[in-house]
Amino acid sequence: MDALALELPDGGPDTGFDAVWSVEASPHMPDKQRYADEMLRVLKPGGCLAVADWNRRDPSDGPMSSLERWVMRQLLDQWAHPEFASIASLKRNLETSPWNRGLPIATADWTVPTLPSWVDSIVEGARRPGAVLGLGPRAVIQGLRETPTLLLMHWAFRSGLMQFGVFRGPLPPEP
Ligand SMILES: C[S@@+](CC[C@H](N)C(=O)[O-])C[C@H]1O[C@@H](n2cnc3c(N)ncnc32)[C@H](O)[C@@H]1O
Repeated sequence: MDALALELPDGGPDTGFDAVWSVEASPHMPDKQRYADEMLRVLKPGGCLAVADWNRRDPSDGPMSSLERWVMRQLLDQWAHPEFASIASLKRNLETSPWNRGLPIATADWTVPTLPSWVDSIVEGARRPGAVLGLGPRAVIQGLRETPTLLLMHWAFRSGLMQFGVFRGPLPPEP
């Protein structure tokens, strides 16, 4: 199903989901507001949204250097990402969505604890070669082609160009 046009009814008490969970998907979405709207639309009142996302440093935190601009172009082109949201911009998309009813969304930056996963996902191929080779030659070639992008992702997250954002909400009003 297209995440930007979910074939699901609006989330009422009997029709909505208790929880909506999205992992590393927003970089693929050309329209971040619509992506936020669709996730919140199918949530039942009082339901919980959890998002884990690859985010770029917010433009208000400073311009990109020429090296950062080159890396960013690779990260967008290699995996066909139209654009990365920042943590602040995706939070804004979620909080201003008409399906959110003005409730806050909590965010955190999980860059440091997730950093080892980039190199780990390369090392895993060497650690268990049978598992990779068993997927066939196409998958092996694909894995080799992705290695430089995984290393660039690691560099971008380690240097602060990218941030691993997590989002939770809508939070209930304070009592
Ligand atoms: C980085 S992968 C993450 C996949 C999965 N969430 C995970 O954690 O393993 C991004 C996924 O988003 C999917 N995707 C891209 N555009 C989409 C869209 N408009 N609707 C639904 N899925 C989409 C891609 O096919 C890809 O499987």
